[in-house]
Formats: sequence, structure tokens, C-alpha cells
Amino acid sequence: RDCSVTVSFTAGGLDAPAAAVLGEEEINKVNLKEDGAAYPAEPSLGKHGSALNDQFSKPPTPPPVSDVTSGIEKASIDPNAEMVVNPWDVAGEIDYNKLIEKFGSQEIDIPLLLRIESAIRKIGKVTTLHPWIRRSIFFSHRDMNKILDCVESGKPFYLYTGRGPSSAAMHLGHLVPFMMTRWLQEAFDVPLVVQMTDDEKFLWKGVYNDGDDNLDHYRGLTIENAKDIIACGFIKEKTFLFSDCEYVGSMYPNIVRIWKSVTYSTAKAMFGFEGHSNIGQSAFPAIQAAPSFPSSFPVVLDAGRDSKMACLIPCAIDQDPYFRMTRDVAHKLTPKDHPLGGKPALFHSKFFPPLQGATGKMSSSDDSSAIFLTDDGEEIARKIKSYAYSGGQETSKLQKEKGANLEMDVSYQWLRFFLDDDAELEKIGKDYGSGSGEFWATGMVKNRLIGILQEMVKEHQERRSKVTNEVVGEWMEERKLSF
Ligand code: TYM
Ligand code: TRP
Repeated sequence: RDCSVTVSFTAGGLDAPAAAVLGEEEINKVNLKEDGAAYPAEPSLGKHGSALNDQFSKPPTPPPVSDVTSGIEKASIDPNAEMVVNPWDVAGEIDYNKLIEKFGSQEIDIPLLLRIESAIRKIGKVTTLHPWIRRSIFFSHRDMNKILDCVESGKPFYLYTGRGPSSAAMHLGHLVPFMMTRWLQEAFDVPLVVQMTDDEKFLWKGVYNDGDDNLDHYRGLTIENAKDIIACGFIKEKTFLFSDCEYVGSMYPNIVRIWKSVTYSTAKAMFGFEGHSNIGQSAFPAIQAAPSFPSSFPVVLDAGRDSKMACLIPCAIDQDPYFRMTRDVAHKLTPKDHPLGGKPALFHSKFFPPLQGATGKMSSSDDSSAIFLTDDGEEIARKIKSYAYSGGQETSKLQKEKGANLEMDVSYQWLRFFLDDDAELEKIGKDYGSGSGEFWATGMVKNRLIGILQEMVKEHQERRSKVTNEVVGEWMEERKLSF
């Protein structure tokens, strides 16, 4: 029996045993309620075999609305579905302000932007803020101010991010944390560790029948996904990629420390584990937590138990539950005078939306909702033309009168991620959104997007084709990074 869990962030508090373990800082802010239901699952269902997930991976029957140019019917996310955001499921219409409130993180506001900008200018490697920071695509954080304190006082920090290698082909959404991390590495000139959780995917995916062992399959996907990650352009001497199956030994002392610090009640409340969850799933959060501590990298970061190196984790907001748990126990694993009390800092992104609706999360489980880094130019054009949900009006006449709903328009939302030129983005937004000025029909916005993505994906594929298995081996070799 596979297991999938849902923690819904509705009203309701932590149960008493969980509250006893959580640090004071977060206790009042985190409102977790275990959904309670066990979801019967089959291996062929959605991303993690969850019936719930499956329900949302197929959009509900949409009201028929025709596209300005192509007359295509539209699908949309069910606006009545409850908002669910956790490492396994993202569903409903996502209200990012509400998420900040529920998770107890902080908004990335203008003063913080200015501070980041002035810090990177002093370092001098990069002079302008990444568009994803300026455009609030990275919108939430924990303790980023303390990371900047470290930078200003010359104390070291490192970056940590990761990927669960669930499929050979990564999609555009997966690029978001990695491209941001690449920029942060260059801008702050810091080392980076990238965890590939092949163990996690093995534990969560499929049923485990006799003769069905696919652990080696996921270990193989680690290598394939590592090629895409390397193709993002990290600095080799400052980057260590590792597979949990290979590297977990060096982190084991910290894993044991984390295990001892978290009760089963807490894990249940935070992650929704059930009686039928396998014990590997229950133990896994410690494996994702461990790289947040420099002492998990005695060689790579040259760090002992007394290391006071700080850690910054860029990821999409769905991964936050792992790191709330990490932060709650961090003081036990680190020296008293660590600048962040041992806690990792976080830098959270919004989700790159699926083709069918601008408010969800692109996921690999639905082929027609995603653009994969393996898609060719024709496939990219076909998917966007046939599936990208349009916020434009039904006829040119109406479009000129009313303009498009930009929030709902997937093509425009995707341009916010991948059209670099601020002035052009603003002009398209203004003209297409209002219907006045230069005329933009949905099909024209789609064409602009198609051109950008075709070029971006083609360049990615060219860089990736140069990354051989041997090259991957070099990035994954345990070695002291230069910093
Ligand atoms: P995984 O493989 O599901 O996702 C990898 C990273 O991509 C982000 N992501 C997205 N970002 C924007 N838009 C989307 N549509 C989208 N889909 C996925 C995820 O938030 C994540 O940052 N358990 C993790 C692997 C992991 C990890 C980490 C991630 C281990 N250690 C530390 C971040 C930081 C996983 O399965 O990620
Ligand atoms: N140049 C960016 C990188 O290599 C990728 C990118 C292209 C981008 N277009 C963008 C990032 C628009 C943000 C906005 O990381």
C-alpha cells in the first residue's frame, strides 16, 4: 500500500505533544491540522499515488469559453477546492499571502530587496537583483536578514537545495529554484550542496511487490536529473551534488540527532503520517533536514561539530514543512553562538503554474500540464497553443473593450518568469490587460512566449548534451569545495 498524506492549513492548532517539541518562535504561527483521512492509492495514480492528488491533477470540467484566436476550450483549477500546500500535494487556488500567515514566514519586502541589492553590489560579482526577486516570484523567507548580517560581518554561509528524482525529464517549474540558486551562488560567491533524494522517491512511489524493486531506477534518475541541474550553470569548484543512497553515511550522525529530537506525534502532525505509512517515510524528514547543518559535510565544507557556518535554502514554498521541523530542533545540533541559532534560513518561491490554470503548481504527473526540458520546439508550440489557459476575451471586439484577466492568463504569467525585459513585460501587461494601446490577442502573447521558451529550452538541451556520466561523477565526488 502506498501512502500519501495531506496536511491542510485550515483552522486548528497543534496537538499537545507536537507543541511540546516545537520551538517557541514558531509555535503560535504554525497552524497545522492533520486531515485525518487515509487515501486509498494505486501506483498508477497521480504524483505520489494519492487519490486526492489524482482528483486535482485532472482539472474539473471547465465552463466552455472559446479562445480569442484558436477557439480552444479552456480548463481551470477548481476555485472552490480547499488550498492544500505540502511536499506531496498542491491543490486549490493558492493565496500566497495566506500561506505566509499560515506558515509563519516573512514577506520579502522592499527594505529586504534593497538590503540584498546593496550586499551583492559590495561583493561585486552581480550588480542587479534577479527579476524573480524584483517580481515577487520569490516572495517569502525566514531569517534572510540574518544571512545578510553574516555577509556584512564577513561570516561564511552556504546554499543548500535539492531535487527528488521522480522522472527522467524535469519540467520548467523545477528550473525555478535551481536558476535562483545559481544566481545566489554567483552573487554571494558561496558554496552549494544539492541533495538528490532518490531514497525519498523510492519510499513514496509505487507499491512494493515481490520482484518490483525499483530503488536502482531512482538512483539512475539521480544521474539524469543531475545533468539538467549541472546544465543550469553552477560553479563547479563550489558545488557538490550528492545522492542520498551514496552519501548518507557522512550525514548519519546528524540524522540520528534529528531522529532523537522529533517525536512521532510531531512528525504525524507536521507530515500527516498514518499507521500504514512505512517506517522509511516517517524517518525521511530527518534525511532532508540533515544537509541544513554544515557538520553533515565534514570534507565538502571542511566543517566540524563546532562549525558556525550559516545555511540558506532556496526552494518553492511546498518544501517548507521539512524546514520548519529542522528549525525547531536546530539548536540541539549546533554550537550556542551560531549566528542563526543553528537554524537554516529560507528563500521561498511561488509555483510555476501548469498550462491549465495560473494558480496551481506545474507537476510531472500530467503530461499535458507541463513543458519538459526534453520537449522540442514543435512540442512546446503545440502544448502552449492547445492548452495554455487564456485570460483573454472571447472576441477581438470584447478584448478591445475589456482587456484580458492577467492573473488567470497562463501565457502572461509564464512571461513574468521568463521574459527578462521589464519594459516589454510591462507594456504587454498594460496593453493586453486593458485592451487599449497596441492590440494583443491571446494568440500573439502565446507566440511571444513560444519564441522565448523554444530558445531557452534549446540552449538548455545544448548545455545538457555536454554533460556526460563522467562529468556528473566529478560533480558528485566528495571533495573540499573552494570558498
Ligand atoms: P522536487 O523534486 O519535488 O522539486 C524540486 C524543487 O523544485 C521545486 N518545484 C517547483 N518550483 C516552482 N514551481 C513548480 N511548479 C515546482 N515544482 C517543484 C520544489 O519546491 C523544490 O524546490 N523533497 C524534495 C527534494 C529536496 C529538496 C531539498 C528541495 C531535498 N532537499 C532542499 C529543496 C530544498 C523534492 O522532492 O523536490
Ligand atoms: N538568464 C536567466 C538565468 O540564466 C534565465 C532567465 C531567462 C530569466 N529569462 C528570464 C530569469 C527572465 C528571470 C526572468 O538564470
